[in-house]
Amino acid sequence: MFLTFEGIEGTGKSTQIALLKEHLEARGLRVLVTMEPGGSRIGAELRRVLLSLENRDITPQAELFLYLADRAQHVAQVVRPALLAGMVVLSDRFADSTVAYQAYGRGMDPEELHRLNTLAVGGLWPDLTILLDISPEEGLARAVDRNRREGKTVAEGRFEAESLAFHARVRQGYRTWAVRFPERMRVVPATGTPEDIARDVIALVDALAAAKDRHA
Ligand code: TMP
Repeated sequence: MFLTFEGIEGTGKSTQIALLKEHLEARGLRVLVTMEPGGSRIGAELRRVLLSLENRDITPQAELFLYLADRAQHVAQVVRPALLAGMVVLSDRFADSTVAYQAYGRGMDPEELHRLNTLAVGGLWPDLTILLDISPEEGLARAVDRNRREGKTVAEGRFEAESLAFHARVRQGYRTWAVRFPERMRVVPATGTPEDIARDVIALVDALAAAKDRHA
C-alpha cells in the first residue's frame, strides 16, 4: 500500500505520518516512511539545491525538473522496491506537490505538469493521498513556530519565505486537484488536535485496507 501526505507548510504532515506508522505497525504491518524532495541518496543532494536560500535565482522550469528528477529517482530506488518487498510506504509529499506548488503556485499549466509527473512516477500512483487542509495563515504560523523550536536555520527556508498569497494559491490548487482525483485524494481538515486528525486519517486508511483485502 502506497500512501502520500500533502498540504502546505505547517499542516502537521510529519506528526500524522508518525501516528499512522504507529497504528499500522501495531497491526503487524512493515512501514517505510520517506519524503520528497530528498527520499533517495541523489534526492538528498537535489533537496539541498532546491531548498537553499542561496538558489533564489533558480528558474521555475529548472526547479520543476529538479523536483521531477528527485521523484523519478525516489520511485525507482526507494518506493517501488519497498512496495515489492511487501511494505506499506508513507511519503511526506509526492507528485501532487508539483501540481500545487509549481503549477498553481508558480503559474504553470496543471495538466502539463500532470503529464510530466506521469513520466516521473513510471505508472506508480499512490493508493491514497491525504490532503491535510489548513489556512495559509495558520499553517505558516505553525511552520515558523516549529522551525524556531527545532532550531532550524534559514538555509532550508526558501518556501517559508514565499508570500502568504503564494501559499493561498498552493492551498487552493491542492483543493482543486482533490476534486480532479476524488477517488485517490481525500481532504482532511487539519485544524483539530493531532489525535483528532489522526482518527480521520486512520479511518480512511483502514477503509482502504479493508477494500483491498476484499479484492485480494
Ligand atoms: P518540506 O519537505 O519541508 O515540506 O519542504 C519541501 C518544500 O518543497 C515545500 O515547500 C514544498 C516544495 N515542493 C515543491 O515545490 N514541489 C514539489 O514537487 C515538492 C515535492 C516539494
